[in-house]
Amino acid sequence: MINSIINRVSCGRLEAPAPSRNHLELMLKAALRAPDHKGLKPWQYIVFEGEEALDRFGSYMLQAALKDDPDLDVEKQEKLKKKPHRAPMVVVAVAKAKNHPKVPHVEEILSAGAGVQNLILGAFDLGYGAYWRTGSLAFNDYMKEPLGLDFEDTIVGFIYLGTPSTELKAKPIPEVEDFVRWG
Ligand SMILES: Cc1cc2nc3c(=O)[nH]c(=O)nc-3n(C[C@H](O)[C@H](O)[C@H](O)COP(=O)(O)O)c2cc1C
Repeated sequence: MINSIINRVSCGRLEAPAPSRNHLELMLKAALRAPDHKGLKPWQYIVFEGEEALDRFGSYMLQAALKDDPDLDVEKQEKLKKKPHRAPMVVVAVAKAKNHPKVPHVEEILSAGAGVQNLILGAFDLGYGAYWRTGSLAFNDYMKEPLGLDFEDTIVGFIYLGTPSTELKAKPIPEVEDFVRWG
């Protein structure tokens, strides 16, 4: 397992097949084992799979972008609509705000981030490609209503999933001593 973690790489070039239902469930189970202060389970994962669902997700992106900038040029609009089609499946990962007096929202965001890491490690381990993206739309509040989210929730990522269409390239592993000092 430690080698899988050390050698994980992202993959932005993704094609069908998407993770099977069975594999997706395993990956989500891994996500749901993220560390979690007070056991709040402050997470939601929204899965978009297939043409119709990805089109719908693209239209949420476009509508949100247009609300921010009604003059968005037509070329950019077209590009935006197609963004989710960069993979056969996109999972929106959300940190739900549980408003617990002892757990600030940043800890819910960290927990959801750990969940995403478990999810993408699971994808890598099962032979799928994954790419964690955000971009301005993850922080655009107009995305929340169509996704059925509450205003205080935080989108932590759009996780693109599928089968790598190119060979995954190993990445250099940073030197531990450059990032660690003994206190
Ligand atoms: C919270 C978060 C948001 C990210 N958003 C983007 C993004 O919007 N676009 C992008 O190209 N990479 C984004 N990345 C980086 C990629 O997911 C990926 O980690 C990076 O390209 C390095 O590749 P590697 O994971 O193989 O080391 C994001 C990473 C994190 C943790």
